[in-house]
Parts: sequence; structure tokens; C-alpha cells
Amino acid sequence: MPDPDIWSSPPKNLELPEREVHIWRANLDLEPEVLSRLASTLDNDEKARAGRFHFTRDRDNFTACRGILRELLGGYIGSSPASIEFAYGEFGKPAQHPRNSGPPIRFNLSHSSGLAVFAFARNCEIGIDLEAISPEFAGEEIAERYFSARELAELMALPAETRPEGFSLCWTRKEAYVKARGAGLQIPLDSFSVSLTPNQPERLESEDSYRWRLRSFKPAPGFVGAVVYEGVHEAQGFHPRYWDWGVWR
Ligand SMILES: CC(C)(COP(=O)(O)OP(=O)(O)OC[C@H]1O[C@@H](n2cnc3c(N)ncnc32)[C@H](O)[C@@H]1OP(=O)(O)O)[C@@H](O)C(=O)NCCC(=O)NCCS
Repeated sequence: MPDPDIWSSPPKNLELPEREVHIWRANLDLEPEVLSRLASTLDNDEKARAGRFHFTRDRDNFTACRGILRELLGGYIGSSPASIEFAYGEFGKPAQHPRNSGPPIRFNLSHSSGLAVFAFARNCEIGIDLEAISPEFAGEEIAERYFSARELAELMALPAETRPEGFSLCWTRKEAYVKARGAGLQIPLDSFSVSLTPNQPERLESEDSYRWRLRSFKPAPGFVGAVVYEGVHEAQGFHPRYWDWGVWR
């Protein structure tokens, strides 16, 4: 898993060549003027969704996340953030609407505890997930409910002090796979397995694992992230690039 210092300054002009995967991270707790600039780019549906959050921080984080997504996507396709239109898959996965101009770019995003990660790729499906590592959440009961038998056995074999990280590695890898496929909980979570031992190679065992690459990464101290993307990129020497939105904007 790459170190947190993998995150670097992106170029001002965004370009996404074929076979590259770009991962961005962003702190969602923003200065009011930045938040209001981003909020002004949202469409009516997004504004309505934002308005339905009960807590201000949740509303602001959602607004920031969608605004940053628009800004980045706009940078890649050469359109203004407010002009971007989204389409939604059967199970809610957002994608570019065919009406947008510019190259077809696939993306996915995840947010947790004030941090967000975004993944972009050309012509290949992609899914990303982010979680804060939480000792309270690393319970056997939850693992029994959501993990495959193989994952549960690997988790329980870990020393107690690394179990929270192993749990989060498993969770994010599973979520990233499910999100890459865009099928939400239509895919039974125990129908495929991922490896979860910290500092060991990422492994995905699923009926279609030949299609996918799985990478874990450290978005910030106390967090883990995972990305799953289609294709042969790594076999051809391509690896994800990790960029900081806070430096770019
Ligand atoms: C969307 C989903 C796939 C992930 O949600 P989540 O982990 O709660 O939230 P995240 O922050 O990681 O991702 C949410 C984003 O994913 C995107 N998304 C929504 N539906 C999606 C789908 N079907 N596929 C891929 N991405 C989707 C959206 O951009 C959404 O954010 P936005 O609506 O604010 O733009 C969720 O609906 C789900 O089904 N989760 C599985 C829950 C579970 O039991 N996991 C156990 C893992 S062991």
C-alpha cells in the first residue's frame, strides 16, 4: 500500500490519458467562500438533496463533494463545472450524461468523516471507497454479517491491535469492488473475497476477478482507501496517480 506521502501536486491543466487512473483527495471542511463557490455550481437536484440533510456538516460535506467532483470533471473535459450533467445507473451510480462534451470519463467518489476521494479513468469502470479506521467498528459481529468465511477467518487470525486496520482494508476493498460494478447491494457481499492482512498484497477473488485491478492506499492518517478499476493498466506499467485537490484549486 503506498505511503501517505504518495500524494503530490497535480498539474494545473488536467489531462487524463487512456490507461491512467487518477485518484484525488480533498478535505471537505472548507472556508465559507470556497463552499459557496462550489455550491453555486450544483444543479437543482443536488441542491434539493443537500437541503434534505438534517445536520449542517453533512449538508456542507455533500455540497463540497459534488462541487469538487464538478470542478475536477470540468477540468478534465474542458467544461464549466455548472454545465456538467449527470446520469445515474440502475442502482444510483453517477456517470457523465452523454450530453456533456469532451472525452468520456468514468469516475466514482467516496466520503467519510470530512474527507473525500475521487477516482477518474477513461473507458474503464472504476469504484473507490474510503473509511476512517475505527476500533469500535471492527467487531466480529459486523464481520460475520458482511464478510465471506475466508475474510472472517483472515480477520480473526490477525493480532488484536491490527484487526481494526484489517477490518477497514476488507470493508473498503469490498465496497470499491461493488461500486466499480455499480450494482450496490445486488452483489451478495459474501459472494467474493478480498485479502485484508495489513502490508500484504491486495487480492480479489470473484467470478470476474480477471477483469479488475484492486489497490489500497492511505488517504490520510487514520483512514484507508481502496480503488478497483477495469483493465490491463498495471500489466502495461501504469499505476494510479494520487493528487491533492487542496493544492490544485
Ligand atoms: C453507494 C454505496 C454503494 C456506497 O455507499 P457508502 O459507502 O455509504 O458511501 P460512499 O461515500 O463510499 O459513496 C457514496 C457515493 O457513491 C456513489 N454511488 C451511489 N450509488 C452508487 C452505486 N450503485 N455504485 C457506485 N457508486 C455509487 C455516489 O457518488 C455517492 O455519493 P453522492 O451521492 O454523494 O455523490 C451504497 O449504496 C451501498 O450499497 N453500500 C454497501 C453497504 C454495505 O453493506 N457495505 C458492506 C461492505 S463489507
